[in-house]
Amino acid sequence: MKVAVLGAAGGIGQALALLLKNRLPKGSELALYDIAPVTPGVAADLSHIPTDIKVTGFAGEDASPALKGADVVLISAGVARKPGMDRSDLFNINAGIVRGLIQACADNCPQALIGLITNPVNTTVAIAAEVLKKAGVYDKRKLFGVTTLDVIRAEAFVAEAKGLDVDTVRVPVIGGHSGVTILPLLSQVEGAQFSDEEVAALTHRIQNAGTEVVEAKAGGGSATLSMGQAACRFGLSLIKGLEGEDNVVECAYVDGGSEHAEFFAQPVKLGKNGVKQVLSYGELSAFEAKARDEMLPTLKGDIQLGVDFINS
Ligand code: NAI
Repeated sequence: MKVAVLGAAGGIGQALALLLKNRLPKGSELALYDIAPVTPGVAADLSHIPTDIKVTGFAGEDASPALKGADVVLISAGVARKPGMDRSDLFNINAGIVRGLIQACADNCPQALIGLITNPVNTTVAIAAEVLKKAGVYDKRKLFGVTTLDVIRAEAFVAEAKGLDVDTVRVPVIGGHSGVTILPLLSQVEGAQFSDEEVAALTHRIQNAGTEVVEAKAGGGSATLSMGQAACRFGLSLIKGLEGEDNVVECAYVDGGSEHAEFFAQPVKLGKNGVKQVLSYGELSAFEAKARDEMLPTLKGDIQLGVDFINS
């Protein structure tokens, strides 16, 4: 397996690369790319860790050497939030970065599974799809907005609030990846009951957890370590699917034929070609059904912004 990380010198990229260097299957290749000149040094640094995973690093304008032959590409290149910003404020810079990097994927590894971390995910995934369509290589099974951070946050907060074993708590999170479009399905947590007040408070906390970190870092960036962990979990699941492992399920923001929007985060089963099956997200509580319906104009607007960015 060859995994490429684009934006690898950044906060997320370095955390993710460290985890992958320790956790990819033996014999894998980890290719790091970033415009920052430090990137070959990040690769050299990681290569001193004694695991059977070859690390290469590339800096500059050309992502091709990192992308050639890649099976999985994880993209965290772009700017992150500062206090007072929401994810949509990142659009102006990150839209162009994502367009360029996805074009490079289309040129160099059109078969690869692509996981997009760069915000605003609701929009950057739509941009990526349009670029891949124009290049004639779009396969909706192979493009993912990485929403795993919302899932791991939900798992951490629910386990903490309810005194559950954090290793076994599972919380599906559907919709998108910003504000009200993040919808944790607390009604589906096994072994826990929540009052209406708890549901409202936990949902609000999960939706705004990114801002909690942005404010606590006081201008020093957004979530990087937890996001590195989330992206590692998601990337390893993509690889398990590619390797033919059965029953690999993750929530992700995909073009999965949802009745709600062109892209929608929901549970998917992963396989040798990416999404093997889009799974039903099951029964919703009245609170969740209302929240889902109310988020849709925002989510559809975010998607349209991405489509228009490429087509007009
Ligand atoms: P960072 O600023 O630490 O790192 C970004 C890296 O991207 C930098 O090393 C920069 O040199 C690189 N870069 C910029 N333009 C590039 C290009 N054209 N090609 C290659 N590399 C390029 O930012 P951080 O904290 O790593 O965040 C990265 C992105 O991830 C942000 O957009 C942030 O909003 C997003 N994010 C997404 C989350 C999610 O749940 N999906 C959670 C947290 C952050």
